[in-house]
Amino acid sequence: MPGELSNAMKKKIFRIAFALLITVAQIFICTAQSLPGGRKGKTIDQKVDSVLQLMTLDEKIGQMNQYNGDWDATGPITKDGDKQGQIVKGMLGSMLNVTGVDHTRTLQELAMQSRLKIPLLFGQDIIHGYRTIFPIPLAEACSWDTAAIALSARVAATEAAAAGVHWTFAPMVDIARDPRWGRVMEGAGEDPYLGSIIAGARVRGFQGKALGNTDAVMACVKHFAAYGAAIGGRDYNSVDMSLKTLWEIYLPPFKAAEDAGAATFMNSFNDLNGIPATGNKYLQRDILKGKWNFKGFVVSDWGSVGEMINHGYAKDGYDAAYKAVTAGCDMDMESRSYINNLSKLVKDGKIKVELIDDAVRRILRKKFEMGLFDDPFRFCNKEREQQQWNNADNLKAEKTVAEKSIVLLKNENQLLPLSKQTTTIALIGPFIKAVRDNLGFWSYQYPDDSARIITQYQGIQNKVGSNTTLLYAKGCEINDSSQAGFAEAIQIAKQADVVIISVGEASDWSGEAKSRSNLHLPGMQEELIKAIYATGKPVVVLMNAGRPLIFNWTADNVPAILYTWWLGTEAGDAIADVLFGDYNPSAKLPISFPRTEGQIPVYYNHYNTGRPATSDSDRFYRSAYIDLSIYPKFPFGFGLSYTNFSYGDIQLSSSTMKTDQPIKATVNVTNSGNYDGEETVQLYIQDLFGSVVRPVKELKGFQKIFLKKGENRQVSFTIDVDKLKFYNDELKYIYEPGDFKVYIGTNSQEVKEAAFKLE
Ligand code: NOJ
Repeated sequence: MPGELSNAMKKKIFRIAFALLITVAQIFICTAQSLPGGRKGKTIDQKVDSVLQLMTLDEKIGQMNQYNGDWDATGPITKDGDKQGQIVKGMLGSMLNVTGVDHTRTLQELAMQSRLKIPLLFGQDIIHGYRTIFPIPLAEACSWDTAAIALSARVAATEAAAAGVHWTFAPMVDIARDPRWGRVMEGAGEDPYLGSIIAGARVRGFQGKALGNTDAVMACVKHFAAYGAAIGGRDYNSVDMSLKTLWEIYLPPFKAAEDAGAATFMNSFNDLNGIPATGNKYLQRDILKGKWNFKGFVVSDWGSVGEMINHGYAKDGYDAAYKAVTAGCDMDMESRSYINNLSKLVKDGKIKVELIDDAVRRILRKKFEMGLFDDPFRFCNKEREQQQWNNADNLKAEKTVAEKSIVLLKNENQLLPLSKQTTTIALIGPFIKAVRDNLGFWSYQYPDDSARIITQYQGIQNKVGSNTTLLYAKGCEINDSSQAGFAEAIQIAKQADVVIISVGEASDWSGEAKSRSNLHLPGMQEELIKAIYATGKPVVVLMNAGRPLIFNWTADNVPAILYTWWLGTEAGDAIADVLFGDYNPSAKLPISFPRTEGQIPVYYNHYNTGRPATSDSDRFYRSAYIDLSIYPKFPFGFGLSYTNFSYGDIQLSSSTMKTDQPIKATVNVTNSGNYDGEETVQLYIQDLFGSVVRPVKELKGFQKIFLKKGENRQVSFTIDVDKLKFYNDELKYIYEPGDFKVYIGTNSQEVKEAAFKLE
C-alpha cells in the first residue's frame, strides 16, 4: 500500500535507529567514563570516592608523589625517561617547574595514557609575577594596599594559568624579624597583623573568583611553620621558640590565608623546637587539619621529607616517609621517600591505608575543583597564552604597584621631586642600566624577558624633555674592590645640576639560600656615594635590594633617599614617576631597618622588660647596648611623602570600654604640605599589664587615605575586645580587663596617644 513501508525498509530504518542508539550510548559512556569520576550530578566528594575505589595502592601513592620537570637542565621538555614512564604508569600526581602550554600538554598527554587517566597538577614558584614581574613581595607589602597586592597576584595567576600552570607555591607568609635571612624578600615583613591582611589578599588574588576558573591558580601557603625565625638568619636553620610566640606572631598569617580559602599549604625545611616541620604532627594534624579544619592538602618542601634523615629525626627513607605521612604531609616534593616506601609501610602494617586514602582524597579533590577531570587540557590554550604575553594592562598594573612600593626614606629641603626641566642630570651607579637586577630573586625562570624590562636609565629618559641632558657613568660594579670608575663618575657629577646614584645588592643576593651576615652596601658602593657627595652636588640615592640594608653614612649625609627594592618589569618608569613627582610616594616600611647587624633582631612589637631604656642616653643598667642605639635606623611603619600630614589629638568615644561596647578612636589628619598625597594612618594598642607580659605596641588597624593639599579628614577606628586579645600561658586566646593605651600615627614611633580601661 502506498504510504506503507516495506519490510526491508522497516528493517533498514530499525538498523539505522539501533546503530544511532548505540553510538549515542557510546558517546555518553565515553564522556562520562573517559575520566574516572566524570559522571555528572555527583558531589565532588562522591566523585573523589568513585575514583578512589578504582585505584590500586600504588596508584594512590603515585598521587602523593611530585617531581621537578628538569626545565632548566634540558630546555622546555622533561627528558627524564624514568619520570615520563612513571607518569604513564600513574605513579605521579604532580610536577613542578613545568610551564608553557606546549610542555604541560605533552606531559598531561602522558598522564592520559595511564590506566585511570588522572590528570597531573603543574606547580610553579610564581612569587611576584609570571611573565610580568611585579615588585618583590616585601616591596609590595610597603604599599599597605591590599587591592594593589591582590591585583599583583591576580595578574600573576592570569598569566600563569594561561601557560598551563595550576598551582603557585605562594604566598610565603613567614613573619621575618631578621633581615639576614635571604627569604625576608618573599614575605610581608615583621608584623602579624599586617602580614595576615596581606596573606589573605594574596590568596584571594591568586585564586580569583573561584578555583576552576581558567584564570585562577591554587595558592600554596608556606612555609608551615615558623621558617622565618631560622636561628641567626641562616637559611634552613633550626627554629626554637615558645608556643606563645608561635601562636601570637608566626601563625596568624597562616590562619588568615586558610580563612581566605587557600587550597594548599607547604610545610617547611626547619625544625621547630626539635621536630622538623615536615614531620610535625602538632603543626599539620593538630593545628592545620585539626583546629583549623583545613580541607586542602599539604605538600612538603623540596626534598624535606628525605631531609629529616639529616635532621636526625628519621633513620632512613622508610622512617622519613612514615613520620611525614603520619604527621599530615600529603605530597612528597622530589624526595621519592613516598614512592619508595609507602607501599611497604602499608604492607608492613605500620600505616593504615585510610591514612593514604585521606591524603589522596585531598589531592583528588583539588584536581576536581580545578576542573581537570572534566578537561585535563583546560589550562593549555595557546591563544590565551599568547594574549597574556606582553599584555599592556598587566604592565600598567605592574607600574602602579611598583610606584606604591617605593619608600621615601629621606628628603631634606624638598630636593625631591626633581623638575622635569632640570638641565643636566648625572646618572651614576651599577643599577642605573641594570636589567635583570630590577627583577629580583624568583624571576630567574624568564631569561628571554630582558628586552621588556624598563631600566632606570630608560625610565628617566622617558620622563625628561629634550632640553635635559643625561650623563651616565657606572662608577663601580655592585661588588668589587675597584674604584677605577670613580674619576669618570665624579667628572660627570661636577657637570650636573643634580646626581642620581643607584646602588644596592644584586638580585640573587636575597632569596632562598641567600642569607648574609653583612648587610652593608656591597663593594665600593658607599665609597662611591661619598666621593660623589664630596662634589657638593645635590645627591639622590636609589637603594635596590631584597632586604633592609645598612647604609648609615648615606642615611646621615645624603639629602634624598628612595628605597626602591626590586620593582619588576616596569621598574624604570615607576622610579621616574616618583623622582619627578608624577607619583607622590606613599609606601611605609613593613619591617624595621637595623643600624648594624649587631642590633638584629630589632622589631617594634617587643616587650618592655624589667629595665627598659627610655632613650639612648638612659643606658645605666638598662636593657640597652653600651655601644649602640636601641632604636632602629628606620622604624616599622615609616615612610615619607612629598607632602606633610599633621595629626590632631586622639578623641576617644569613651575612656572606659565594656566587652560588648566597642569604643571609637578618632584623629584629625591634615595634609599640611604642598602636594596631594596618600597617608597610611596606623593604629597601635598596648595592654599595660596582664597575666603575661604584652608588647609595647601592636598594630591593630590602618587606613589609607588620600588628601588633597590643605584637606583634612577625621579617621576613626573601632576598638573592640577582639583587638585586645592575646594568648595566655595556657595558649588560650583571651582578653583581660585593665588599662590600655591607644596610639595613632604616621609610623610606629611618631604617634599620638590616649588611654582607656576595659571593664
Ligand atoms: C624550596 C623553597 O623553600 C620553596 O619555597 C619552593 O616553593 C620550593 N623549593 C620549590 O621550588
